[in-house]
This record gives sequence, structure tokens and C-alpha cells, in this order.
Amino acid sequence: MGDLARLLKESWSLVEEHQDKVAGYFYARMFLSHPDLRDLFPVQMDVQRARLLGAIVTAVQTLEDPERFDDYLRALGRDHRKFHVEPEHYEVVGGALIEAMRAFAGEEWGVEYDQAWADAYAVIASKMLAGADADQNPPYWYGEVVAHERRSQDIAVFTVLPLQPLEFRAGQYLSLEAPRYQPRLWRTYSPANAPRRDNTLEFHVRAVGAGWVSSALVRRLQVGDMVKLAAPMGSMTLDRRSTRDAVFVAGGTGLAPIKSLLEELTRYNRTRWVHVFFGAQNREDLYDLADLNRLAARYPWLSVVTACSDDPTFPGEQGDISDVLAKYGPWKEHDFFVSGSGRMVKATLKTLAELQVPSIRIKYDSFSE
Ligand SMILES: Cc1cc2nc3c(=O)[nH]c(=O)nc-3n(C[C@H](O)[C@H](O)[C@H](O)COP(=O)(O)OP(=O)(O)OC[C@H]3O[C@@H](n4cnc5c(N)ncnc54)[C@H](O)[C@@H]3O)c2cc1C
Ligand code: HEM
Repeated sequence: MGDLARLLKESWSLVEEHQDKVAGYFYARMFLSHPDLRDLFPVQMDVQRARLLGAIVTAVQTLEDPERFDDYLRALGRDHRKFHVEPEHYEVVGGALIEAMRAFAGEEWGVEYDQAWADAYAVIASKMLAGADADQNPPYWYGEVVAHERRSQDIAVFTVLPLQPLEFRAGQYLSLEAPRYQPRLWRTYSPANAPRRDNTLEFHVRAVGAGWVSSALVRRLQVGDMVKLAAPMGSMTLDRRSTRDAVFVAGGTGLAPIKSLLEELTRYNRTRWVHVFFGAQNREDLYDLADLNRLAARYPWLSVVTACSDDPTFPGEQGDISDVLAKYGPWKEHDFFVSGSGRMVKATLKTLAELQVPSIRIKYDSFSE
């Protein structure tokens, strides 16, 4: 471990126990000295109290070699424009962070810690600022909801028409804010279509537990509402040069990016066999099966296997999709794309490791952090 990394870890360990209080102090300090910054954050700060603080501390501590994370940090900086973050805010945030830690660390805090955090923060901030500065796109796009359909108790499929063209690649995700219902809360969602001529984007959203944004998108969003969309991210995209057959594994609304990839394949694929494994707890959650079956009937290279883990009379496969996948195969020569909840993705990656699928052939998006 380098000297800087050691100093950062050592100093953080002095305050780690009081993380909540450090976060409280950090925000109070920031909003007291710069009240205008309060408007950048969500109304209910308790929901994600330590989000920014936690994010910065993780970034500073895990990015021991910032050069390796250049792309990530530039993208993060570009993305921060959607929060209305201006260059001068970086210094305020960095200062509040160090003061908050110093306030709770007690006497063991030393000037070398101040310096270590200031240095690490400065490197990261400069990369984020460079990314923001170089971006030609707007910080976000406005889009109008032009269709909204409840597919089950917890799932909605809706379509957004951006007011200006928004370029993305099939399989990517972007962040979305529904200002009418949950202002300043951004969450990531994956368009379920490949780029279209009419620019529309279709989203598949599942309302999770006490989820703030997802429940508003499923239960309250209406045709005519405006949403904000920010720059696409993610690398679960197709390599057009690959000649390997492909396996798509989706859990619930994890189907969204998979359908996007499928739609892209329908435009050019003639040679690759494509197998979709689509799983959910019960048949109601296989909310888009009719459309998947329609695609499979139309494209001879496509096959679909469905499974329910908690619906004993479901006529398809029974069990977790990660286990069902293992019953088929062999899969050693395939490209894999996996999307769904954290639990589902983890279980599928475990299955693939057991089947000795090289990780280089697996792309995945996990919906939980
Ligand atoms: C790359 C990526 C792409 C995504 N694409 C989609 C998509 O296409 N469709 C979609 O429906 N979602 C998608 N998500 C998930 C989405 O971003 C939100 O996390 C989700 O909608 C919950 O947000 P919320 O504001 O409603 O919940 P929050 O208010 O953030 O969370 C409320 C509570 O619910 C819990 N919680 C959060 N997520 C889950 C979960 N998945 N299962 C169980 N409990 C949870 C939290 O721990 C918390 O306790 C994606 C996530 C990522 C990272
Ligand atoms: C080293 C510098 C910084 C890092 C590493 C960092 C990192 C992050 C990350 C990873 C997130 C979560 C992203 C998401 O949920 O989409 C976030 C959210 C956020 N950041 Fe930053 N950030 C930095 C500086 C700043 C600055 C200077 C501001 C200006 C005030 C800022 C304002 C925000 C806001 C408003 C959010 C959303 C918070 C929320 O939803 O509660 N960040 N940051």
C-alpha cells in the first residue's frame, strides 16, 4: 500500500464509527457556509443522508491509482452537471469533508491527514472537472411521457420522447428524474429498445419496497408528465464483430437492456443463435413474455426459456433462472449478458463460474449497488 493510501485509510478509521455524525456535520457545514448548495440536494435528505459523503470517501479510498479510473471519473464529472454542480462547488465540498472528519477524529488527527485528503480529493476533482468541461452534450434532456401502461401490480412500461435527440447504445442505461413527483432524486434505468428513428425510449420499471423513485414511476407517472434524462452510461453493449452465439439472462425488469440488445440484433443478425433466459418469482412478473414470444416466433435464431421461482403451477421451468440456465448448454463458447437484481446477477455469475465460462465473455448490469 502506498503512503497516501495508508494515510487515507488510517485517518478514515478514526471517524468511521461516527459516519452518520460526520455526514450530518459535513452537510450542515456546507449548507451553512453556502446556503445555495441546499437546492442541489433532494428534499428528504434523510433518505440518502450519506450518499454524497459516502461516495466521495469510497472514491478517494478505492481509487488509489486515479489514472486507472480516468474514464470513470471523467464520466462522473460529466454526470454531475445534472445535479447543477459548478466548478467552484468542488472546493466547498472538499473543505467541508476534511473539516467534518477533523471534528470527529479527536486529538489523533494530524496535519498529514489534512494533506492526504486534500491531495487525493484534488486529483479526483480535477478529473471530474475535466470530464465536465469536455462534454458537448447538455447536462440533461427533457422528455415527455407519451405512453404509460401498468403491466402488473408493481411493474410499469412507459415511453418517453426526448425533446432533443439523445444518443445511446443498445444495452446502456441512463439516469432519470421525475421532477413532478420526486425532485432531485435521480435513479438509473435501462431503455428497453435500441435507438429508434423517432427517438423514443421505452422503460420497464418495477416498484421496489419503499422505493422513492420506482414507486412514483410505476404508480403516479402519467402521460404528459415531463421527466429529465441524463447521459447514457454502461458497457453491456454488443460487439458486432463477435460471431459467438449469445445467451441473455434476465431477472424481472432486468429484461429491459436485454430487449434493447435483442432489438439491435433483429436489425442485423443472421448467423448467431441467441438464447434468452427470463426468470421471475411468479408469472405476473414475466410482464413482457407476450412480446418476447412474438419475437421468437418471428426470428428463427431466437429461443426463449422462462422460469418462475415461486409459482408452482407455472408451465415453464421451475426455480431460479441461474439454476435453470445450468440445465441447458453447453455454454463454454457463448457470449453472456446478465441483467437483474443484485441477488440474481450474483447467483448467475456463480453458475457461470461453475460452468467455467471465462469472465471475459460475460457482461452484466446489477440493479442493486
Ligand atoms: C445499471 C442499472 C440499471 C437499472 N435499470 C433498471 C431498470 O431498467 N428497471 C428497474 O426497474 N430498475 C432498474 N435499476 C434499479 C433502479 O436504479 C433503482 O435502484 C430502483 O428503481 C429503486 O429505486 P427507488 O428510488 O425506488 O428505491 P430507493 O428509494 O433507492 O430504495 C428504497 C429501499 O428499497 C431498497 N431497494 C432498492 N432497490 C431494490 C431492489 N432492486 N430490490 C429490493 N430492494 C431494493 C433499498 O435498499 C432501500 O431500502 C437499475 C439499476 C442500475 C444500477
Ligand atoms: C471528489 C468529488 C466528488 C465525488 C467523487 C462525487 C461522487 C458522487 C457519487 C458517486 C454520487 C452518486 C451518484 C448517483 O447517485 O448518481 C454523487 C452524488 C451527488 N453529488 Fe457528488 N461527488 C463529488 C463532488 C461533488 C460536488 C463538489 C458536489 C456539489 C455540491 C456534488 C453534488 C452531488 C449531489 C447533489 C449528488 C446527489 C446526491 C443525492 O442524491 O443525495 N458532488 N456524488
